[in-house]
Amino acid sequence: MKISVILGTRPEIIKMAPLLKILDKKRADFFTLHTGQHYSYHLDKVFFDQMELPLPKYNIEVGSGSHAEETGKMLIGIEKILTEQKPDIVLVEGDTNSVLAGALAAVKLGIRVGHVEAGLRSYDRTMPEEINRVIADHISDYLFAPTPQAKQILLGEGISKEKVFVTGNTIVDAVYQNLELSRRRVNIARQFQLKMQKYFLATLHRQENTDNKERFSSILEGLERLAVKFRLPVVYPIHPRSRKIMDSFVKQPGKLKIIEPVDFLSFLQLESNARLILTDSGGVQEEACILRVPCVTLRNNTERPETVEVGANILAGAAAERIVECAVTMLTREKNWVNPFGDGQAAERIINIITEAQNG
Ligand code: UD1
Ligand code: UDP
Repeated sequence: MKISVILGTRPEIIKMAPLLKILDKKRADFFTLHTGQHYSYHLDKVFFDQMELPLPKYNIEVGSGSHAEETGKMLIGIEKILTEQKPDIVLVEGDTNSVLAGALAAVKLGIRVGHVEAGLRSYDRTMPEEINRVIADHISDYLFAPTPQAKQILLGEGISKEKVFVTGNTIVDAVYQNLELSRRRVNIARQFQLKMQKYFLATLHRQENTDNKERFSSILEGLERLAVKFRLPVVYPIHPRSRKIMDSFVKQPGKLKIIEPVDFLSFLQLESNARLILTDSGGVQEEACILRVPCVTLRNNTERPETVEVGANILAGAAAERIVECAVTMLTREKNWVNPFGDGQAAERIINIITEAQNG
């Protein structure tokens, strides 16, 4: 069986890493196709280097653009390679434009598609990620749902139960495989003079937050109020999308400790030692929950409701006052929740499922 792993952005590299490691170790017949949606060193190659991942055989280097530009170029480039390489199955992960293009190019060529992290829904069709994940789920042959709840969503949408497998989320595998290494190999706390439990960690990059100036400013205001109220640094490793937009603001958020995006081991260390995490990222909501660090989500909804249900996360939206209130609530919560995203064996399960399907 020939497998093609298609990926293109930071979270896909991190969440596909456990799968790539197994395929590499098993000397499976596989190749990675990188769309080039992310290309800056600290959003892309740093993860291949640090996690010692097999390098992509192809990179179609689409770069940045509008949704149609990115997706259109990806479809053309991916189709060419899949036509040449004729894999039996394509694996995609998550909800980015690279996922949509990878799944769509493959299914139109009659190649089976496996969607890792299937069945997530925010029920907000203004988010590009929601469109991407709905389409990817409905054109996939194997849907790897991270939780039983995600499986129920897929069944509720009429997807046949034979296609859906509850595997856990590969982010748990990635966290378990790298947490100890992050303690031993990096010391980002010293680099930024941070004391354990004496800082907040923030990330903010989603289109619905950054591309609306009022909303973006209101969230930054909330984060600044927190820094003042608690007299603690709010560390914000900033995504280039947010940097670009923030640079055009007249008033810069001077009370935040804004740093460049960091590598995965450093980020895990920042997360695990933080008093509280504030984020609009999907992966960061999950990691906070797995690491038992309370989380405030800077959005009105989440496609990771399990984190809220177990008590690890709260939805704050974008109003500054509400962000502060939610932070106060989460700081007083007991951190005794159980991680709903699996046991760290998701990648192994996914490989076993596709191997058995091929043999059977
Ligand atoms: C994409 C995903 C989003 C995901 C995020 C992960 C879509 C629709 N969105 O958003 O779901 O949460 O990746 O980080 O697929 N840029 C760089 N260097 C890079 C890549 C991007 O500077 O390597 C800048 C460019 O100015 C670009 C902007 O970031 O225009 C946005 O990049 P893009 O890949 O279109 O979307 P993300 O915001 O990264
Ligand atoms: N991450 C990282 N360095 C950073 C910020 C995030 O390595 O400076 C990792 C984080 O651990 C998580 C992933 O990036 O695994 C989340 O990606 P992102 O927030 O860009 O995308 P999303 O999950 O929202 O799609």
